[in-house]
Amino acid sequence: MKVFVLTLFPGMFDGVLQHSMLKRARDRNLLEVHLYNIRDFAQDKHKTTDDVPYGGGGGMVMKAEPIFLAVEHVIAAHQLTAPHIVYLTPQGETLTQHVARTLATHEELILLCGHYEEIDERVRTALVHQEISIGDYVMTGGELAAMVVIDVVSRMIPDVIGNAQSVISDSFYDGLLDYPHYTRPQEFRGMAVPDVLLSGHHKQIEAWRREQALQRTRQRRPDLLSS
Ligand code: ADE
Repeated sequence: MKVFVLTLFPGMFDGVLQHSMLKRARDRNLLEVHLYNIRDFAQDKHKTTDDVPYGGGGGMVMKAEPIFLAVEHVIAAHQLTAPHIVYLTPQGETLTQHVARTLATHEELILLCGHYEEIDERVRTALVHQEISIGDYVMTGGELAAMVVIDVVSRMIPDVIGNAQSVISDSFYDGLLDYPHYTRPQEFRGMAVPDVLLSGHHKQIEAWRREQALQRTRQRRPDLLSS
């Protein structure tokens, strides 16, 4: 999978991409992440990427031209054939495991991160295929949201997570929250691991996990069961 990030702050991604699963996925060429600074595509000598809004009012608006030029450059430079262009915004469709699974079907993703107040509407109408929000709150920009998208989507690339079973039993994979997990020691500060997990009866363990997942979902997220 190839991900291209257009941002005014490419440095924000360094730590996230250089650790853990995302680093491993990149090292193994399962995932490519290319960062582009939108400012490099500004046409004036001051490298302006935002301007005041038509119609007045406060705040600044990200200009359309540098963003169009950046997208066109990425498509040409990497010979992309079917890039899916996503704009991260609180106005977008909420990211869920289901939405992430559809995103992961695209081999070429362009993630556009806004900053300042908003983006020129013509970017939305003529360039962007999908708008994604990571939740009902407003962040200072789309960068953290893009990192969340990269993280969630990359786990769905075959072989990124060593143990495929752990993806299958993930919270939300089958519409339920995950069941409780335990590791050694068998007893810790007076708290024992449930007997069934030590029994070696795979059918009973599976039934216990399913029941626990259901119970946890009923308690914490009944909305997941009613839909
Ligand atoms: N940019 C600012 N807030 C955001 C959010 N909640 N989701 C995606 N992008 C954003």
